[in-house]
Amino acid sequence: MASREAAEAAQYATDKNLQTRIDTHCRYGIGHGRDIFGQVTQAMAQVRAHPERILDVGAGNGNWYRVIRSELGSGPSYSGLDQSEGMLARLSRMMEDDPRGEALLGDAQALPWQDATFAWVGLHFMLYHVSDIARALSEAYRVLQSGGVLTACTNDHHPYRELWELGEQVARDLGLPDLAPPMSERFNLANGAAFFPERPLVHSVPGGFRFHRAEPAVRYMASGPILLHLGKAADDPDLTARALKRLDERIRERIMRDGVFEVHSASGYFLLKKPE
Ligand SMILES: C[S@@+](CC[C@H](N)C(=O)[O-])C[C@H]1O[C@@H](n2cnc3c(N)ncnc32)[C@H](O)[C@@H]1O
Repeated sequence: MASREAAEAAQYATDKNLQTRIDTHCRYGIGHGRDIFGQVTQAMAQVRAHPERILDVGAGNGNWYRVIRSELGSGPSYSGLDQSEGMLARLSRMMEDDPRGEALLGDAQALPWQDATFAWVGLHFMLYHVSDIARALSEAYRVLQSGGVLTACTNDHHPYRELWELGEQVARDLGLPDLAPPMSERFNLANGAAFFPERPLVHSVPGGFRFHRAEPAVRYMASGPILLHLGKAADDPDLTARALKRLDERIRERIMRDGVFEVHSASGYFLLKKPE
């Protein structure tokens, strides 16, 4: 692959990979991490009741949009911005019958709105992809009204560690270079506060996966995490297939030994209220 940016653009060209990961969380997730959008929505409602305008930066395929409508009803307007046309096509279809919803193509680092437009701006599971993280956060803060709330969900610094360790073993088994560090190394619950214009609150929620079969765990890794981190090797379909087969064997061994393959992780959110 030409670069990490090109690999990520390919990763998000449609919502197929993201949806595979969301489905894996729904079916095999453990702990409260599965419901992170419900939790961040409730936390926000405690500091700012009835937000009239909500902006979702890096909206993806509308995972958070669905929670906003189920928790806050049709009152707030919703604007979803993403740099992927494929994601926006999916989001637009979802909002066909919603006169208070809009989907826009754009970059988190240069938001196309005037200062003080929104009561709530969320940047969820996306800041680790952005080149200039501090700039994206300062843009989000700029378009936030006084008394408005900024939230940013992300992972801990070493997410899905047991899966990651097996991925590293597979790379060694096949004589590949070490995996590149996880995406969330760039912006995680431990280092993320430093990128905000003011000090945010941080809340961590333990979670992970419990697998009784190898196949869903391999499908999860094949949807992105391992491919993004195999670097050049991921360009070679045979090598990728061998890596996934080896991963499948490693996970099966673990399930034979322990009866289950448990994967630990944490996700959570930063929350910052702009002074009145
Ligand atoms: C992991 S997905 C998260 C989607 C959604 N926020 C969620 O939590 O389900 C990351 C999304 O961020 C988008 N993205 C990455 N960099 C971006 C940027 N600079 N500006 C806007 N969107 C971006 C990607 O296209 C992708 O849809």
